[in-house]
Amino acid sequence: MSKILLAGGAGYIGSHTAVELLEAGYEVVIADNYSNSCPESIKRVEKITGKQVQAYEVDVKDKDKLSVIFKENKIDAVIHFAGLKAVGESVEKPVLYYRNNIDTTLTLLECMNEYGVKNIIFSSSATVYGEENPVPYTEEMKRGTCTNPYGWTKVMMEQILEDAAKADKDMSVVLLRYFNPIGAHESGIMGEDPQGIPNNLMPYVAQVAVGRRDHLTIFGKDYPTPDGTCRRDYIHVVDLAKGHVKAIDFVFKNKGVEVFNLGTGTPYSVTEIVTTFQKENDIEIKVEYGDRRAGDLPESYANADKALNVLGWKTEKNLADMCRDLWRWQSNNPYGYNQK
Ligand code: NAD
Ligand code: UFG
Repeated sequence: MSKILLAGGAGYIGSHTAVELLEAGYEVVIADNYSNSCPESIKRVEKITGKQVQAYEVDVKDKDKLSVIFKENKIDAVIHFAGLKAVGESVEKPVLYYRNNIDTTLTLLECMNEYGVKNIIFSSSATVYGEENPVPYTEEMKRGTCTNPYGWTKVMMEQILEDAAKADKDMSVVLLRYFNPIGAHESGIMGEDPQGIPNNLMPYVAQVAVGRRDHLTIFGKDYPTPDGTCRRDYIHVVDLAKGHVKAIDFVFKNKGVEVFNLGTGTPYSVTEIVTTFQKENDIEIKVEYGDRRAGDLPESYANADKALNVLGWKTEKNLADMCRDLWRWQSNNPYGYNQK
């Protein structure tokens, strides 16, 4: 049975991926410093799957502590989720973002090299397509110009991983470019638990719905889109997690670097999202319109053909599922994992 190290595995996408890997028969080890998560998410993974997860509280930048995991476990592949991800915060604290995101990657690669681990999957982002590329994005497009340090860390980490694979022909690297993951596990006991005021649209909508925030501000209604609000490729987090299982199968059978978009290929506007959430859950969301948010692109969506053709993966859940599953999680856990 192959053992997969999930760096940052207690977080939103990592915890959902842990469930899917365990259910597919893999063993899972999690390394997380809980800077944006808590150990309770791992307990929920165990509850859903009925399986045990080995978890280490470590900062992935700390090579001595990270090495212990490689010493104590025969790791077959790494999935690297560990990173800071708040776009606005990255503009205010660029050094923190470059230090954390780049260093976690370098330390993982050093440990992998020392312990002979050749396979790594990296959580990249649609943000690497930058401002220049036209939608829908395809994997062979050149990485573009990012509007913030968070995006640049993803561009740099993709480059670092490509260079590492170029130097070691036995390495297998998969770069997964996520679009906009939303929703929650259908059990209603696992989901996204942002700290402080949510930056992203769906957690904000859910917190308005549950009464933690008064209203949603829609950032801009004068974009060159059908209804004037931005369009994104929202993907159910469980579909995204299943994409990682396919990528693990792929990474074991191949060498070199491969890039995959993980999206649905269908964009929805902010207005459509809010309308669907209201309709599916029979809840009203108070909305106000505000100025555009700096750095937002009018549209971002995937061409998802490559993941289908090469990995045999496609999304199974629709926007209604995403809205219903999110509300089940948020209404069952109004304050996330740490109930008040
Ligand atoms: P998350 O914040 O919920 O999960 C990241 C996890 O990494 C957290 O548990 C955090 O505590 C941990 N972490 C951060 N720095 C660490 C360090 N130095 N050592 C150990 N653990 C550390 O975020 P997520 O939404 O699950 O995202 C996972 C990955 O996917 C991130 O790399 C993110 O940039 C990327 N991504 C996310 C999105 C999105 O919209 N959620 C989109 C594209 C890419
Ligand atoms: N939005 C609002 N009001 C809010 C929050 C968001 O109107 O309170 C709008 C944004 O302006 C945008 C859309 O909702 O038009 C989606 O915004 P998110 O912040 O949810 O998502 P982004 O597309 O901006 O960013 C996400 C991830 C990034 C990643 C990027 C591309 O947060 O990490 O997708 O992959 F880089």
